[in-house]
Amino acid sequence: MGGGALAATSPWLSTFASVEDTAHERCRIGFIGPGSRGRFLLGFLAENPKCEVVALADIYQPSLDEALKITPSAKTYKDYRQLLEDKSIDGVVIATPLNTHYQMAMDAFDAGKHVYCEKALAYTMEETLSMYRRHRETGRVFFTGQQRLFDPRYIKAMELVHQGLFGDINAIHAFWNRNADWRRDVPSPELERLINWRLYKESSKGLMTELACHQLQVGTWALGKLPTRVMGSGAITHWKDGREVYDNIHCIYEFDDGRQMTYASVISNKFYGLEEQILGNLGTVEPERGKYYFENYGPAPAPAFVQMLMEWEDKIWGANTFAGSSWDPEVARNNPGEFILGKAPEVDGTSLLVEAFVEAVCTGKQPPRIAEEGYYATQLCLIGHEAIVQGQPLAFPEEMKIDYAPYGTKGS
Ligand SMILES: NC(=O)c1ccc[n+]([C@@H]2O[C@H](COP(=O)([O-])OP(=O)(O)OC[C@H]3O[C@@H](n4cnc5c(N)ncnc54)[C@H](O)[C@@H]3O)[C@@H](O)[C@H]2O)c1
Repeated sequence: MGGGALAATSPWLSTFASVEDTAHERCRIGFIGPGSRGRFLLGFLAENPKCEVVALADIYQPSLDEALKITPSAKTYKDYRQLLEDKSIDGVVIATPLNTHYQMAMDAFDAGKHVYCEKALAYTMEETLSMYRRHRETGRVFFTGQQRLFDPRYIKAMELVHQGLFGDINAIHAFWNRNADWRRDVPSPELERLINWRLYKESSKGLMTELACHQLQVGTWALGKLPTRVMGSGAITHWKDGREVYDNIHCIYEFDDGRQMTYASVISNKFYGLEEQILGNLGTVEPERGKYYFENYGPAPAPAFVQMLMEWEDKIWGANTFAGSSWDPEVARNNPGEFILGKAPEVDGTSLLVEAFVEAVCTGKQPPRIAEEGYYATQLCLIGHEAIVQGQPLAFPEEMKIDYAPYGTKGS
């Protein structure tokens, strides 16, 4: 795919529209941390004719061995800094545990490499800001693992939301539920903290950095602005197995005009799965399911005499202060909705995200908004986590705002 064709797939990639032809460009990629997510990304890189994965770095030999099955000719390193010394490498992908991203990304920028860093970008808000600044100072490409930005059903859903099809969006309910302990098998006990890094405070902020990071960005994308304040609560209520991160969290993100985004993640019940429900006064969007629903769906109005009876009944019950007019319970509507893309979703945006990164490395051009969307996605999950830990509402700190026009964050 040429740059222009790629631009057509995502509103974030307008930069590539002016790129004539990159069909003969090649770039050389180094991969740091080819673990579970890493090997998924590596598969797309290996298939991409515009790039060659020339080196792999990982401290865990089994990860390198597995990765070599995908890119057999790559050199391997135990220390990522040796990989960065290879001057022929144009860009790196970082898919290691959260607490290691910052140093690796900073070192990579300093070594002149373009960087794709998995979400969440960093362990602290300060580190996240420094990474973004280093990207700006060095002028190197900076991508983050927010694949929803490239997912056709999200892109289409947002187009419809922004056109006003669903009316005023007053609230977003984002949630990610599972019924699983999130543990991985460990071949020997000394590897526990390396393999189950997600469960320990030193290397992870749990559900907020691992899951919320994706979904909070969807909320700000729909509303076109950043929340101003967050409050939250979290605990370990079910998986009391020695883990240190919460298995049950609930947050409210408030916007300056009173609109709200709730975030919930519970990993001891999977009934409602994951979704970002975008709630407008005319309709609802569930991009994860790939559907939208209009409010006015339902059976034709009841015949006039039935309506008269209902009104009469409503008056009697309405006058009754303790009962109210509760004879019609407001249970969820039985509305099958419409598919955003006309059919059930088949893929997420990861392949396009990786393709866009390769295009950016070949051309050396940073598409607008990609780094900024990733930046704020990370900052929002980190401040939500902080609000939970401190047990008090937190305003989004002025000093963490960046000059990013669509959100009007500067000086707001
Ligand atoms: N975008 C997404 O949808 C998505 C999905 C899953 C994971 N992720 C992100 O990807 C990252 C990795 O997650 P994962 O599930 O693949 O973890 P993982 O544990 O499966 O893989 C991490 C790899 O990094 C290696 N590693 C650890 N410390 C290292 C170091 N100092 N130097 C070099 N290698 C090191 C590990 O040995 C392992 O091979 C995380 O940031 C996670 O949030 C993103």
